[in-house]
Amino acid sequence: MFVSSLLLAALFSPAALAQAQYGTPASSGSSQVTFTNDRRLLFDVDGNQIDAYGSKINFFNGSYYLYGNSFSTTGVAFGIKSYSSVDLQHWRYEGFLFDPFAPNPCDDLGGCGRPHIVYNSKNAEYILWANAGSSGYVIATSSSPSGPFTFSSTRAAMDPQFNGLQRADFTVETFDSNKKGCIVLSALNFRDPRAGSIWPPIFQTLHISELTTDFANTTGVSYPVRSAANDLIDQEAESPDLFTRNGWYYVSASNTCGYCNGSIGLLYRSRSIKGPWTRQIIAGYSCNGQVEGVLPLTDPRTKQVTYVWHSTSVPGGPRTGFGGHIFQPLRFRPDGSVGDLDCSDNAQFQVGFTRGSGAVASGAATTAGDGSPSDAAYTPVCDSDQFDLFQIWRASRAGTLKTVSVNIAGAKVQTVPLALTFFKFSSYNDLLAPEYKWTTLGTASVNSTYLSYVFNTTSVPVTATGNATVAPGDLLGLAIAGEDFTPYCHLEFDVDSRSGMVLYQRGAGQNSWRGLKGNTSPVYAREGKGVKFFVEYE
Ligand SMILES: *[C@@H]1O[C@H](CO)[C@@H](O)[C@H](O)[C@H]1NC(C)=O
Ligand SMILES: *[C@@H]1O[C@H](CO)[C@@H](O)[C@H](O)[C@H]1NC(C)=O
Ligand SMILES: *[C@@H]1O[C@H](CO)[C@@H](O)[C@H](O)[C@H]1NC(C)=O
Ligand SMILES: *[C@@H]1O[C@H](CO)[C@@H](O)[C@H](O)[C@H]1NC(C)=O
Ligand SMILES: *[C@@H]1O[C@H](CO)[C@@H](O)[C@H](O)[C@H]1NC(C)=O
Ligand SMILES: *[C@@H]1O[C@H](CO)[C@@H](O)[C@H](O)[C@H]1NC(C)=O
Repeated sequence: MFVSSLLLAALFSPAALAQAQYGTPASSGSSQVTFTNDRRLLFDVDGNQIDAYGSKINFFNGSYYLYGNSFSTTGVAFGIKSYSSVDLQHWRYEGFLFDPFAPNPCDDLGGCGRPHIVYNSKNAEYILWANAGSSGYVIATSSSPSGPFTFSSTRAAMDPQFNGLQRADFTVETFDSNKKGCIVLSALNFRDPRAGSIWPPIFQTLHISELTTDFANTTGVSYPVRSAANDLIDQEAESPDLFTRNGWYYVSASNTCGYCNGSIGLLYRSRSIKGPWTRQIIAGYSCNGQVEGVLPLTDPRTKQVTYVWHSTSVPGGPRTGFGGHIFQPLRFRPDGSVGDLDCSDNAQFQVGFTRGSGAVASGAATTAGDGSPSDAAYTPVCDSDQFDLFQIWRASRAGTLKTVSVNIAGAKVQTVPLALTFFKFSSYNDLLAPEYKWTTLGTASVNSTYLSYVFNTTSVPVTATGNATVAPGDLLGLAIAGEDFTPYCHLEFDVDSRSGMVLYQRGAGQNSWRGLKGNTSPVYAREGKGVKFFVEYE
């Protein structure tokens, strides 16, 4: 979603040069960020996929924090992770908000889905709201936006008319200079007699309540968020978020789906939380996503606020951990309505925003020597059952190699390990020829016990001594091989043919000449594609 040419422009601005030369932290100021529809998967500065389904981004204490449910450990929502960034591009992993391995309320129905945090400036406390258990919402507090959070023994109470219904997706948000707060929740009725055999399985309606002054409870009084139609669209609404603009309350939402790859995008607006609400459908499939939040970004130069709509995009089916995101500004009309989302493939959106304070985060991936581009659009590919892969590149500099890292996801079912080999070789022709032996620099074998359900990086350390010193242009490779019934998954991108990167493949079990003339190598290029990886030097 983010394009690096802008980052480059920012890096070469005088202020950034001063920062680079003197190492003083940049102060918050105006910055630009570009979102694109095709760059969906996000990574932290160590190269691991951002593991936060249903993300919400808040600006707390001079940094942006991205929160969401982790899917890496169990393949379903398990705990809540946070990431911080000052530039909305370089994200630092800040860990779990609490220890999900210790007994906690999130073990209950709801799994602490749709986590939202509000800040109470009166006692400098961050309050985490989460959906778990059957009455009201779980509350936890911390003095830091990234935790650790301590669960309260009492729960936030909702309007008693929803007793007996599951309070599901929700948002809590503060406004009026952090003086007032509201919750918008979706009350889920599993027992509605109108449920169909195929669909809809449930009915769920949106309701808004004010928060108490400590932002840790509600007033217990709610108002419906629905249009005059009060139709099946209003009665199938979930994943809400809330913001205010020019005297309007806005509630973003989607239609009901279970970790789906796209759902109707809804925007309700009203002058009062008591309604009446006007509804717009602003996207038929939310760019193959489901709205997760709206992020207000203020450009400090113009004071203009851009409201960035963001959706989670998952493949559908069990691989929810492969979730990415789309981000794009809402386009308001004078009457307060907004235009449809732009879901065209290559759409880009540039937004001015307030840069956070302090240094831009860096990590193993951002300081790496060689690798695939940080700003490519990466797509999950799961085909280790069908192909062995050989990713080839040229060393960009002289130095001693330390590790190569690659993003691999597993499921807890594979039994045949995936073998990774870091190697050096003499020429492309040699590599494809029979009987050729490369020089092994290091090996790693991973299996489903070791891998997670998301695209975490796996590193192959160099163990060969003496052969790991390279000159610019030296040919290097990473082999990825393992054939279980259930494939392992890696990430691919469209390679620029000038990059010197080539991805070779060999079909499962193909280990002899092929073709009528008996001279076709079983190893051949996967044209135009590359695997996501990066290399660290000593
Ligand atoms: C992801 O990889 C990092 C670095 O190897 C490791 O610290 C972390 O525990 C891994 N996370 C998961 C969910 O496997
Ligand atoms: C804000 O950040 C500063 C510097 O890291 C820290 O000392 C302070 O406790 C933080 N305050 C809040 C409310 O998070
Ligand atoms: C919320 O209010 C209800 C009663 O109105 C109370 O029982 C509950 O303990 C309160 N929860 C919190 C977290 O303050
Ligand atoms: C994903 O969404 C697109 C439309 O946005 C649809 O054509 C496709 O069939 C969907 N896939 C699944 C698995 O629902
Ligand atoms: C994965 O490998 C480790 C040792 O490297 C082994 O103990 C474990 O049983 C393996 N897991 C599976 C699922 O084969
Ligand atoms: C370097 O690699 C070659 C094979 O290409 C091998 O014969 C040699 O022993 C290696 N040298 C060291 C120091 O490992």
